[in-house]
Amino acid sequence: MSSAYQQPSARTLTTRATSYTLNTGARIPALGFGTFQDPDSQEDTVARALQKGMRLIDTARVYDVEEQVGRGIKKSGVPRKDIFLGTKLWCNDYHPEDVERALDDSLRDLDTSYVDLLLMHYPCTFKRGPDRFPRDANGRMIHGETTYVDTWKAMEKLTKTGKVKAIGVSNFSKGEIETLLKESSTVPAVHQMEVHPYLQQNEFNEWLREKGIHVVQFSPLGNMNEFYRQTGWSKEIAHMTRVIDQPILKEIGQKYGKSPAQVALAWGINKARSVIPKSVVDWQIEENLSADFELESDDMARIATLDMKARFNDPSLDYEWRLYSDLEGIEGTMRGRTH
Ligand SMILES: NC(=O)c1ccc[n+]([C@@H]2O[C@H](COP(=O)([O-])OP(=O)(O)OC[C@H]3O[C@@H](n4cnc5c(N)ncnc54)[C@H](OP(=O)(O)O)[C@@H]3O)[C@@H](O)[C@H]2O)c1
Repeated sequence: MSSAYQQPSARTLTTRATSYTLNTGARIPALGFGTFQDPDSQEDTVARALQKGMRLIDTARVYDVEEQVGRGIKKSGVPRKDIFLGTKLWCNDYHPEDVERALDDSLRDLDTSYVDLLLMHYPCTFKRGPDRFPRDANGRMIHGETTYVDTWKAMEKLTKTGKVKAIGVSNFSKGEIETLLKESSTVPAVHQMEVHPYLQQNEFNEWLREKGIHVVQFSPLGNMNEFYRQTGWSKEIAHMTRVIDQPILKEIGQKYGKSPAQVALAWGINKARSVIPKSVVDWQIEENLSADFELESDDMARIATLDMKARFNDPSLDYEWRLYSDLEGIEGTMRGRTH
């Protein structure tokens, strides 16, 4: 199967290889590769994505794919130093005494001596121990006794070990980031959060930019991931028109000889953010790799009209933690579900 949008048109613009400078001085590519799901395919897919030119790989302890990612990196033949590799701590490893051991577990599985970026996956802390989702007899989540600030201070220490080049956060509210800024001496290098044409978060993005925090967009294709259609968090809202079926993105794509998916990714890059689409399909990976091109301001303005503040990733009910409390896209929350 191949994409219907591979044919170049008269308007095809040169594909770029944008990268940005983090507040640590390190460079991060604009285009990256997500590894959530499909564990059996990840080793080969990561290897092929790197061989095709991807240089930013996003993974996480809780995805259970770090071994596959590590093997994929080796298989690709691409030197480790040329790859920006990020992983995430999971919430049961947030106790300050557990953080370095948890990182060491990730490094062992990734078969590398360092990661370029370590993120705190969510601000909520779960009970320490081997259980990733610790619940009591009534099925209620058991939270940890330390806070995300304690975890952050332990992560700060890791930057001095050489095992972590930069630290950042994911799924934090503005207030939670403000707390980190007040109570620690390290500004997060990255906030990885849900951003796509349906959830643009303009004010929050601008605030993060002013603070020197680089945004990495997860789910950059919006509700493409079947996971959102199946999980109780977002089941109903995820059934709205898929982002890549939006006529506006199709029309803009035709102008540049690009697919709607490429337009959605280019929109993020033209906003100076990184994007980490996940795919295990070769033509889609290739399409995503050719998604770094300049969009004219009129086209950016048209994409701005698609902002319906639709948040698909909201496990607040499950985690029993009101996530994104001061952000857009939770207005219609009912019993933890969005809209
Ligand atoms: N920090 C967090 O809490 C968090 C949360 C969610 C995701 N993430 C990260 O972000 C990554 C991406 O997120 P996501 O998977 O939710 O969303 P996504 O990348 O926006 O969407 C993935 C889906 O789109 C499909 N796809 C990819 N490229 C395509 C293309 N060019 N044309 C048509 N379909 C395409 C994929 O298909 P196939 O699978 O069939 O290839 C997959 O079903 C994850 O892998 C993970 O690394 C982080």
